[in-house]
Amino acid sequence: MKPRTLAVCYNAAAAQSCGPQAPTGLQAAQESTHIYTKEEVSSHTSPETGIWVTLGSEVFDVTEFVDLHPGGPSKLMLAAGGPLEPFWALYAVHNQSHVRELLAQYKIGELNPEDKVAPTVETSDPYADDPVRHPALKVNSQRPFNAEPPPELLTENYITPNPIFFTRNHLPVPNLDPDTYRLHVVGAPGGQSLSLSLDDLHNFPRYEITVTLQCAGNRRSEMTQVKEVKGLEWRTGAISTARWAGARLCDVLAQAGHQLCETEAHVCFEGLDSDPTGTAYGASIPLARAMDPEAEVLLAYEMNGQPLPRDHGFPVRVVVPGVVGARHVKWLGRVSVQPEESYSHWQRRDYKGFSPSVDWDTVDFDSAPSIQELPVQSAITEPRDGETVESGEVTIKGYAWSGGGRAVIRVDVSLDGGLTWQVAKLDGEEQRPRKAWAWCLWQLKAPVPPGQKELNIVCKAVDDGYNVQPDTVAPIWNLRGVLSNAWHRVHVYVSP
Ligand code: MTE
Repeated sequence: MKPRTLAVCYNAAAAQSCGPQAPTGLQAAQESTHIYTKEEVSSHTSPETGIWVTLGSEVFDVTEFVDLHPGGPSKLMLAAGGPLEPFWALYAVHNQSHVRELLAQYKIGELNPEDKVAPTVETSDPYADDPVRHPALKVNSQRPFNAEPPPELLTENYITPNPIFFTRNHLPVPNLDPDTYRLHVVGAPGGQSLSLSLDDLHNFPRYEITVTLQCAGNRRSEMTQVKEVKGLEWRTGAISTARWAGARLCDVLAQAGHQLCETEAHVCFEGLDSDPTGTAYGASIPLARAMDPEAEVLLAYEMNGQPLPRDHGFPVRVVVPGVVGARHVKWLGRVSVQPEESYSHWQRRDYKGFSPSVDWDTVDFDSAPSIQELPVQSAITEPRDGETVESGEVTIKGYAWSGGGRAVIRVDVSLDGGLTWQVAKLDGEEQRPRKAWAWCLWQLKAPVPPGQKELNIVCKAVDDGYNVQPDTVAPIWNLRGVLSNAWHRVHVYVSP
């Protein structure tokens, strides 16, 4: 046995919760590396025995970490007593140095070399059947697939073309047969449950609306610059706009016998994408929003005149205008009305905002409401940060949007870091009062002050509630890097 050198990485608290076989932190630091058999590891699968996992030849006691796992305790428990590899193949986002560093803190020893066999669980690529994607997309993670259009393409068109619409997947993309597809809608007491084919959905009155969809993590990369956060490094492109067509959710719910009598109830959605335990992606919205015809919540089967692309929920997804992307459940399989919010991890343990003072040791997900409507947002898409612009006149372009149907009434742009401001010209579809579901594109052509070698371009939007973006990121920093909507800043050079 070789001597243990990384005593500092040992988590003593974790060791103490491990039951009789586990060494204490002190013992482990004093002794040489512990060697564990596969059987020993496999007997550590509960808080009582300690929860152990392996990666390659290393053994980790993650008992204390389970509740802190950003993907939720249940996901980590899938690997309890065995190798992490099959799960990291599915959630490939783990294969990063900071995740390995974090795991290293929980190392308690090595696996008996004779036991270091190939994992018995199926590790073939669960993403092998994912669709082919457009090469222009900037990929933030391949498995699951997460990608955004580059800024200059994002605002090229008011309606984002389907192939470059940002994609946010948590799991492999299901391959669903439109002929056998059924949407199960649980009926109200006294009403009837529905099993709707695509044709059935087409028989409901068809509605078509333009809606901007934004991920809660849009612009997270700016939060990372303040302090590390857990999540994908989205830049300004986790937002896109499409013309969606489908049946209204309120019409479908009414057919299943639902009414707005339970004012506190929620409509829960389940996707047909699922993890190895069969747990599906899920989310919910208040029943009051779902039943409100003015809220225009759709069960969409068309995106920009085409059947939904596979990455965007083929054959049916929910579109909840003015609400965070996480609630627009794709590959929709089941709709039910419940007294409480969805119990999905993504409703209760993610997509929530916290004070900058809250960290992974102190976070209490039950203390914060799930994100529904999003705050006012804008970003500069042209010029790019670090670019050199011509002297004379500079053209600045970007997007602006607010949640809850609040219209953008103004975008202010500064060339000097926020000392002086000019008002940009807004373009795009009419912003309907209380139903401004889609973004504005904006533009400003401004003279470059003579002799200026650099410009600090800043934008901020104002919505019809006179909500305005905060000036800096630090006061809105949160551990998951969501709701990042500070003034967007771009630094450019002026060609001599
Ligand atoms: N629905 C299912 N079934 N599975 C998912 O992973 N991701 C959600 C939402 N709906 C997701 C889902 C999130 S977090 C976002 S931001 C939007 O889908 C992204 O939609 P898009 O990929 O069509 O842009």
